Amino acid sequence: MRLQGKTALITGAARGIGLEFARAYIAEGARVALADINADAVAAAAAALGPQAIAVQMDVTSQDSIEAGFAAAIAGLGHLDILINNAALFSAAPIAEITRADHDRLFAVNVAGTLFCMQAAARHMIARGQGGTIINMASQAGRRGESLVAVYCATKAAVISLTQSAGLNLIAHGINVNAIAPGVVDGEHWDGVDAFFAKYEGKAPGQKKREVGAAVPFGRMGTAGDLTGMAIFLATPEAKYIVAQCFGVDGGNWMA
Ligand SMILES: NC(=O)c1ccc[n+]([C@@H]2O[C@H](COP(=O)([O-])OP(=O)(O)OC[C@H]3O[C@@H](n4cnc5c(N)ncnc54)[C@H](O)[C@@H]3O)[C@@H](O)[C@H]2O)c1
Repeated sequence: MRLQGKTALITGAARGIGLEFARAYIAEGARVALADINADAVAAAAAALGPQAIAVQMDVTSQDSIEAGFAAAIAGLGHLDILINNAALFSAAPIAEITRADHDRLFAVNVAGTLFCMQAAARHMIARGQGGTIINMASQAGRRGESLVAVYCATKAAVISLTQSAGLNLIAHGINVNAIAPGVVDGEHWDGVDAFFAKYEGKAPGQKKREVGAAVPFGRMGTAGDLTGMAIFLATPEAKYIVAQCFGVDGGNWMA
């Protein structure tokens, strides 16, 4: 029960990694607001987790929606100790085919969404005066280029950069900001990634997944459960001297 009495808001928590983080945080004693643009899915996810979970419909690209979502979460939980910026979109295309609309869509969710949710959490945590924890979901994609993934890679590099600047700015208020960089994590998100590679590399459905899994030094793709240990640790007092860092949790994939 390492998070007993703590409260958290997790964006993009209707499925995948965000939902697994919510489950793991509740198992450690936290109460969690699951926030997602998909109102029906997040309501069902929170209901399945039980009374320690509440659902908040929130679109991280809208300032009004962020403010309403944080207000609802803080009203439901009483206060907020932890924010996990997890909502994100993925796309893939060769440079010659990238559209401005796709670029703007990904930057609005992955970068502006992360920044303005950090701001909303920071305003509440600063006013409360008891510090807090912010965890941003980066990616190995933010630490390197990928031939068909220029926009997503750039958004995740921006998430790492925002983590560095916000970490330096907010530690003066006792707010620790750090990031987690997963490698390849199986789930609905990667089903979509696999479909992009089927289109651009002529692969059979499921083939890219098998290839990336076999290439991970650990020997397989990650699961959302492989990431929960780091997400819990970063929210405990043991991590209080860790500031503005990005931690790879990827079975050795980026190093390889
Ligand atoms: N799955 C991977 O292999 C992998 C690898 C590296 C990093 N990551 C990162 O981890 C995080 C979670 O990934 P995942 O695999 O669980 O993704 P996912 O696509 O399964 O889930 C993302 C969630 O975000 C929500 N969302 C999308 N737009 C939103 C918006 N505007 N406002 C609020 N919510 C919105 C979606 O409804 C969805 O529930 C993301 O930041 C992703 O970039 C994932």
